Amino acid sequence: MLSRLRVPKRRGDWLLGRWVAKRALVLAGEADTERSVAVLASASGAPEAFVLGRPVAASLSLSHSHGVAVAALGPAGSRVGVDLEAVEDRSAGFLVDWFTPSEQAFVAASGNGEEAFAATLVWSAKESVLKALREGLRVPPKEVEVAPGRGPADGDFRPFSARGPGCDEWEGWWRAEGGFVYSFVSKPSGGPPRPIG
Ligand SMILES: CC(C)(COP(=O)(O)OP(=O)(O)OC[C@H]1O[C@@H](n2cnc3c(N)ncnc32)[C@H](O)[C@@H]1OP(=O)(O)O)[C@@H](O)C(=O)NCCC(=O)NCCS
Repeated sequence: MLSRLRVPKRRGDWLLGRWVAKRALVLAGEADTERSVAVLASASGAPEAFVLGRPVAASLSLSHSHGVAVAALGPAGSRVGVDLEAVEDRSAGFLVDWFTPSEQAFVAASGNGEEAFAATLVWSAKESVLKALREGLRVPPKEVEVAPGRGPADGDFRPFSARGPGCDEWEGWWRAEGGFVYSFVSKPSGGPPRPIG
């Protein structure tokens, strides 16, 4: 499940992420009020939610950028990862350092001035997997290889697949909207995320 909010200024992204996560937990019926929810960072940095001091069984992931935040919730015992990225150019060095040869080829083949979008999509999908692993950038990004499904730049969620460390297979979903790419993965896979707010 996804919950989003947009604010006009970049400042406060951290607070915005916390608020969106709390709102998502209320909308999902996990809490009566946002005030009863605490979202803390685990030792790895992964978010963990508590309602009235008790750990929430649902899994939580969040992302914030340029005044936009998104939170994803998954059922107890599942692993979820969500990421949003503003579409922007990434240098050749960035691609060489962080993308696998197959991912670099995907970006190069995008053509027609779509390289920035393709690179943003790959990076967002990769980060969603790194978050679902609860490792973030402690896992070298090249150890996760994503293969996005092609589709229009704006519209419904489109699939991507990813292989994580140890040949771990992931099924994810991406969507472009308003100059951002949103990516989401879950395990077990339950299809595209269902917006809740
Ligand atoms: C997780 C990470 C990939 C996010 O990158 P980002 O695109 O810059 O930021 P996003 O807004 O998309 O995501 C940030 C959120 O990811 C979550 N997050 C952080 N570490 C995480 C982890 N290990 N696993 C899952 N989620 C994590 C947090 O909720 C964080 O939001 P918060 O700081 O408001 O609590 C990256 O920041 C990271 O790996 N951080 C932890 C490790 C680290 O600091 N390494 C230093 C460099 S090696």
